[in-house]
Amino acid sequence: MEHLSEILKILDGALKANASMATNYAGLLADKLEEDGERQQARLIRERLARAPIAIASAQGAGHGVHFGQLPTDNDSRLNTVDITQPLLESTDVLLPDAIQARLMEFIQCVEHHDELQRVGAALANRLLIYGPPGTGKTQTARWIAARLKLPLLTVRCDTLVNSLLGQTSRNLRRVFDYAQQSPCVLFLDEFDALAGARGNERDIGELQRVVIALLQNIDALPDSTILVASTNHEQLLDPAIDRRFAFHIPMPLPDTTLREALWRKKLGAFAPDDLDWSDLAALSSGATGATIEHVSLDAKRTAVLSGQARADTLIVLRRLGLTLALSQGERLSTTEQEIRWLREWAPAHFTIRALASQYDLSLRRVTGIINETPGTRDGNKETHKGKKTRKPQ
Ligand SMILES: Nc1ncnc2c1ncn2[C@@H]1O[C@H](COP(=O)(O)OP(=O)(O)OP(=O)(O)O)[C@@H](O)[C@H]1O
Ligand SMILES: [Mg+2]
Repeated sequence: MEHLSEILKILDGALKANASMATNYAGLLADKLEEDGERQQARLIRERLARAPIAIASAQGAGHGVHFGQLPTDNDSRLNTVDITQPLLESTDVLLPDAIQARLMEFIQCVEHHDELQRVGAALANRLLIYGPPGTGKTQTARWIAARLKLPLLTVRCDTLVNSLLGQTSRNLRRVFDYAQQSPCVLFLDEFDALAGARGNERDIGELQRVVIALLQNIDALPDSTILVASTNHEQLLDPAIDRRFAFHIPMPLPDTTLREALWRKKLGAFAPDDLDWSDLAALSSGATGATIEHVSLDAKRTAVLSGQARADTLIVLRRLGLTLALSQGERLSTTEQEIRWLREWAPAHFTIRALASQYDLSLRRVTGIINETPGTRDGNKETHKGKKTRKPQ
């Protein structure tokens, strides 16, 4: 039977007394019938919809073809527990290793052909778990998925959702999941670990157990066709029972050299310095995430614009990169002297005495003095060099 999935959703809406869900999917069914040339049938459905009570009709009138009712809110704070956005492909570009890109496309294809696959009993539930270190593009990937599927993205605000009042979180969750079923969308649980921490964690055991159980129940009650994406930095903290409910898992690794070069090219864009050695920059940025590269590029662009330059300066890019990497390696560079010594050890070929003198507006003699000074003797704050890399550019 054609359009069975829409009919089932209309039925679900009626059975759950969820009028928005029933009418949204009826509208969608009318659109599909019209596309098939069944104008008469489409018209009959629309006439029925026109007779819907005023509250439903006005909820449908809101948004750009996205017909969601009022956003669910937390009872205490009155804050919305979800955000609705309609991401666009051009603003959600994400660069990923080929193997990961292929897995992502496999997920997209399974979603797009869900009904077809279901008819032959080969469908997987449209549920994807994205995991990896902070700043590797997990949230951006969820936005890309919604853009690619041309569906609204319902991002669950886990901070608002995890309400300290006992029982309130489970109620909030229920509202969000009901809401997501009103109309086709991508339901995105960002920073999922806040909700799905393993049962038996020493902290707040009772409340966490209740949340995990509520999550399991809500996920189980979702039809397989509902698109659920979750992201986490701590995959190992997820409850195995929750983990199992995701048919697709995508790891987001730190970018390798090739990907780092592509990220630099993309993020610096037209501001890339003329004399930039891309492979050198890619090698020096080992350990940097996409977010770090974006951050450093934006900083360098801002400096260029504010100083009236059309392009960023290589040394400024490298300096910002070096200092950001130092921070991510736990180095606390609180003085100019510490910064200078770090940069010199990190990339000696770039941070010559002359370059450092011009970057920090100091004399050559002063910079030489700083470099030859034993760390800790001057500021009484012994530097740690744990994890420091001395790399000569190729
Ligand atoms: N692989 C990538 N390709 C393109 N942009 C990226 C990539 N990784 C990170 N970024 C950029 O870095 C910024 C942060 O990325 P995002 O918020 O998606 O990271 P995240 O993995 O969700 O981090 P967190 O775990 O901290 O939430 C975004 O603006 C994104 O465009
Ligand atoms: Mg994120």
